[in-house]
Amino acid sequence: MSFSAVAGSLKNQLKDHLDLQSQPILVFGKDGQVGRSLQQLFKEFHLPVVFVGRAECDLADDTAIIQTLNHYQPKIIINASAYTAVDLAETEQAKAFQINATAVELMAKYIATVSKGVLVHYSTDYVFDGQQDAPYREEDKTNPLSVYGKSKLVGEQAIQQVFENSPVSTENVSLNARYYLLRTSWVYGDGKNFIRTMLGLANLREELRVIQDQRGCPTSSDWLAQIATQLIFSNTSSGIYHAVVDGATSWHGLALFAIETARLAGEGILVKSENIIPIPTTAYPLPAPRPQNSRMNNQKLKEALKEMPFSADYPHWEAQVERYVMNYVTEKLKS
Ligand SMILES: NC(=O)c1ccc[n+]([C@@H]2O[C@H](COP(=O)([O-])OP(=O)(O)OC[C@H]3O[C@@H](n4cnc5c(N)ncnc54)[C@H](OP(=O)(O)O)[C@@H]3O)[C@@H](O)[C@H]2O)c1
Repeated sequence: MSFSAVAGSLKNQLKDHLDLQSQPILVFGKDGQVGRSLQQLFKEFHLPVVFVGRAECDLADDTAIIQTLNHYQPKIIINASAYTAVDLAETEQAKAFQINATAVELMAKYIATVSKGVLVHYSTDYVFDGQQDAPYREEDKTNPLSVYGKSKLVGEQAIQQVFENSPVSTENVSLNARYYLLRTSWVYGDGKNFIRTMLGLANLREELRVIQDQRGCPTSSDWLAQIATQLIFSNTSSGIYHAVVDGATSWHGLALFAIETARLAGEGILVKSENIIPIPTTAYPLPAPRPQNSRMNNQKLKEALKEMPFSADYPHWEAQVERYVMNYVTEKLKS
């Protein structure tokens, strides 16, 4: 059964629990990479869903957030918005904390205490310092290196505290509010991202120098949108989940893979593969420090997905990046 067909049948099963007609799903961050993927995905579902972006609700303004929540009275919130300008955050600390923590706390309070529904929120590998050798598990010690990472961590903690302090029913646990905090990494989709930057530069330059000593997992925004939807229509326990696909690579490995895939697909690539040169982080200093090891263990999410009736094969980053690059080249050749 296709993913959308299963989601459709789940939607019918859950109609009694989630009074979606009067209380819609509210998605913040409609114009971001994950937000756009959610817009695409929800087209298939025929669910009452409202997408808001900066123009409809500026998350720097608490009053606007509260007005938006009171206006739509959502049973479900997916927060795909974030202050994601990692380097700028070093000098715009207050703004980063407002959007990544204060705004998130208001959303959590609404879901946990008013609508008693479901909150899906995305977080980041940047909550870790990257000093551990093994892939990070959900319970591993956080120690963000950057302002962005710190602001995202405070957002995570706010959600956890709000839900821990809100009353729960032991008689009918299915009616309790739930939250899913999805930590992900190296996101790419319809927007500005590393893969698009590399493909653009590969057409312009004869040599590219790319960092080799940071490792992580490239993760598709389409997949992240699907995971959010699967969790909403499940009985999975609240908590943090490491939402990354299988495998890992370096920025250099990702650039090489994406560029060679584009070359095979017929894109006019200028740079030769031997001129895509691996460099250490120290050779490309940036305002915000990044974790060297961004790899996250995804076992907990895999176990949760296995319990769902519409569990699909768990993807590997290479297969997803290959599809993404092929689509990118096809679209470019058409235009
Ligand atoms: N991108 C990554 O590599 C990465 C890695 C790890 C985790 N994550 C997390 O994954 C989630 C989704 O990331 P993404 O790549 O989809 O992010 P994105 O493309 O940067 O989108 C973020 C969205 O948030 C919106 N936003 C920012 N400030 C706002 C404000 N004051 N009011 C209203 N909206 C505001 C932006 O609006 P505008 O379009 O108007 O600017 C943008 O549409 C985020 O939680 C992020 O922290 C991302």
